[in-house]
Amino acid sequence: EMLEKGGYDHFMLKEIYEQPRSVRDCMRGRIYPDSGEVQLGGIKEYAEKLKNVDRIIIVACGTSWHAGLVGEYLIEEYARVSVEVEYASEFRYRNPIITEKDIVIAISQSGETADTMAAITLAKEKGATIFGICNVVGSSIPRISHAGVYTHAGPEIGVASTKAFTAQVTALTLLAFYIAKLRGQIKRSDLTYLLTELNNIPNEIQKALAANDGIKQIAHHFTGSRNCLFLGRGSGFPVALEGALKLKEISYIHAEGYPAAEMKHGPIALIDEEMPVIFIATKNSSYEKVISNIQEVKARKGVVIAIVTKGDKHVKAIADYVIEIPESNEAFLPLLAIIPLQLLSYHIAVMRGCNVDQPRNLAKSVTVE
Ligand code: G6P
Repeated sequence: EMLEKGGYDHFMLKEIYEQPRSVRDCMRGRIYPDSGEVQLGGIKEYAEKLKNVDRIIIVACGTSWHAGLVGEYLIEEYARVSVEVEYASEFRYRNPIITEKDIVIAISQSGETADTMAAITLAKEKGATIFGICNVVGSSIPRISHAGVYTHAGPEIGVASTKAFTAQVTALTLLAFYIAKLRGQIKRSDLTYLLTELNNIPNEIQKALAANDGIKQIAHHFTGSRNCLFLGRGSGFPVALEGALKLKEISYIHAEGYPAAEMKHGPIALIDEEMPVIFIATKNSSYEKVISNIQEVKARKGVVIAIVTKGDKHVKAIADYVIEIPESNEAFLPLLAIIPLQLLSYHIAVMRGCNVDQPRNLAKSVTVE
């Protein structure tokens, strides 16, 4: 087993560190920055359908559902198609309105999740076209879908999903650009620029991983925490949800992800000197607003850990701890911002003596309801 872990203490840590490669593998043969082209062989037969689609519905569970939320931002922003993201377990039981015009995207690492499969079966019965975004080649979901995109992250052993998430987000990013181009929603020069940036994201993930020692130091302060709040705006919101999920899955600390602006409608009541609040506070369109959210937490003596863009000064001046990630286009923020959150959860869980690869009560793949 030591050999399989490649010298890492846990599969989860190995998989976190594999992300520059797994994201690269997901893009391989699909991205052509010079000619401004994205090729997705698995769905190309459905190009015409995608060109004319009015609505895309994403169904998934757990971490894959969080990837779906990131996908919603990207597809709406670039392809200008309306997207709904649904928990598969809810969708399957609520007689959803689905027609033959709809495209349903099912996201699943394992390709075996029972609720996601049932959601697909229902949507198929109603005539929708189903795309699978899956990691395990030849698993059930790709088999029951009409078409799809494999994420090619390689086997994921740790129960808490890490590299499968970033690969799902990468696949959805490619899909967003692919649809944007099909529908004439993006200028060739913009696409060339974005694809060039995306192509470089594996190197930027590598740089984000270099913050590990500092993150470990920060983790020491939070091993005794009982609650933790994760806040972000825009596509930083699903990152906050995923960061909170990682922490609760492996460290058993209660954690919640929230859109930063919603804090005032509830979570702010919980804030005191015992409450760590983790902000996605990178330099993007919501930067100023996030800074004022941080000030609101500090005014109530909360402890702030902020994920910031390298070189940031404003947040550094008010937060208790900062973790830097490389600067990037806003489109790629989730791929970078999730890295320190994965590492932070990992270190806190290890310091608490938890079984990070096999947390209690959780399964890697949930094949029953
Ligand atoms: C389980 C796993 C999660 C995963 C979820 C959905 O809860 O522990 O890591 O996100 O199932 O699994 P899927 O294979 O469909 O992505």
